[in-house]
Amino acid sequence: MSDSASRRTFIAATGMAAAHVWVPGTARGYSPAEMRAMEETIGVSKWELDTPALCVDLDALESNITTMQARLTAKGLGARPHAKTHKSADIARKQLAAGALGICTSKVSEAEALMAAGIDRICMTTTNPSASKIRRAMALRAKSAQFIQAVDEEKNARDLSDAAKAAGLTADVVIDVAVGTRSGIPAGDGAIALAELVSRLPNLRLRGMLSYDGGAQHLTGFAARRATALANLEGNVRVFEALKKKGLPTEIFSGGGTGTYNIQHDVPGFTDVQVGSYLFMDMQYLAIGNAAGGPVYDDFARSLTVLATVLNNRFPGRLTTDAGAKALTLNVPRPGVVGEPGMDYNAGSDEFGVITFSEARKSYAIGDKLELVVPHCDPVVNLYDQMYGIRKDRVEVVWPITARGKSQ
Ligand SMILES: Cc1ncc(COP(=O)(O)O)c(C=O)c1O
Repeated sequence: MSDSASRRTFIAATGMAAAHVWVPGTARGYSPAEMRAMEETIGVSKWELDTPALCVDLDALESNITTMQARLTAKGLGARPHAKTHKSADIARKQLAAGALGICTSKVSEAEALMAAGIDRICMTTTNPSASKIRRAMALRAKSAQFIQAVDEEKNARDLSDAAKAAGLTADVVIDVAVGTRSGIPAGDGAIALAELVSRLPNLRLRGMLSYDGGAQHLTGFAARRATALANLEGNVRVFEALKKKGLPTEIFSGGGTGTYNIQHDVPGFTDVQVGSYLFMDMQYLAIGNAAGGPVYDDFARSLTVLATVLNNRFPGRLTTDAGAKALTLNVPRPGVVGEPGMDYNAGSDEFGVITFSEARKSYAIGDKLELVVPHCDPVVNLYDQMYGIRKDRVEVVWPITARGKSQ
């Protein structure tokens, strides 16, 4: 049987063609030829894909979604997963179907792309500081009553209210209260005053507050992570309690991520966790250690890999692949080579990965494929037009990265 005949037989036997979900043209237009090329990969072994190829193991992904939802629910918290990680309408749909309250986006362009693909329960966790972005945010609010945006200063609150008035609507907002110094208004009287102002402005509706602690997520060792995360949020809890005491809306007290998902329930008043990387896991997260004291953070399965091809094997102890910085972004921590713990993978060169090793599990020929665990998942996903959904080593689905490149 020819290759394509056996593939057709495989699709027919498994019903995979019917399971193939394609949402065309959400991030950009796909030409008919590109669409055909994608469709032709359905049912093939992942080892036959052209590389670099971004792959997600569907069993692991689905298990991560249900595990996270169940664990948060058991602790009385909601999930509001951050779509900055996956940028995919298809994955957002799975998270919502599993029970997420909504999803988060970082940027207005990300929210636009996802809403155009049918995701309308969105909380934007970054502020919109320019007139143009505010207009774009109001256009999203006009399309969806479930669009919420962050605000962290008085002028921005007044601008949002004016723009909402001009758009003929009342916009839902949350106060972003800083944890550390990255973003948000400091956790103190100014934050309380901002919440009071928002609740008075005629075209804004206060929904509560955000408090994301980026600094605590990757702290190594559970005990240290927990102690720091809880201490860092003490001032934010005081703000939350002050808002409550004043009778201001506090229905949302949201933040946290994959590193602190199992800590946030100890923060008084906390409502939901903005988990992102748990879907995929990456070298950064795998290294932070679990609650039982183990060195590997194994609460969630590693589902995301990049496949690369060996281009050069002519030099002893060295291999060159086709996946460098443009396929893997960061080079620290080093990408991991699945099944080859002795290999050091250097993704510092634009187009090439340089592997050095003294021992390898097998010998590699030119054209052989390797599977890589990415250093940090979010920026890697943003490099690819599509993600191959793999089950038992075969392509079951091809998902466009809906908001790929949407960084405005
Ligand atoms: C505001 C906000 N919330 C949630 C997350 C998700 O964090 P993680 O990928 O660690 O789960 C991030 C990630 O940077 C973030 O910036």
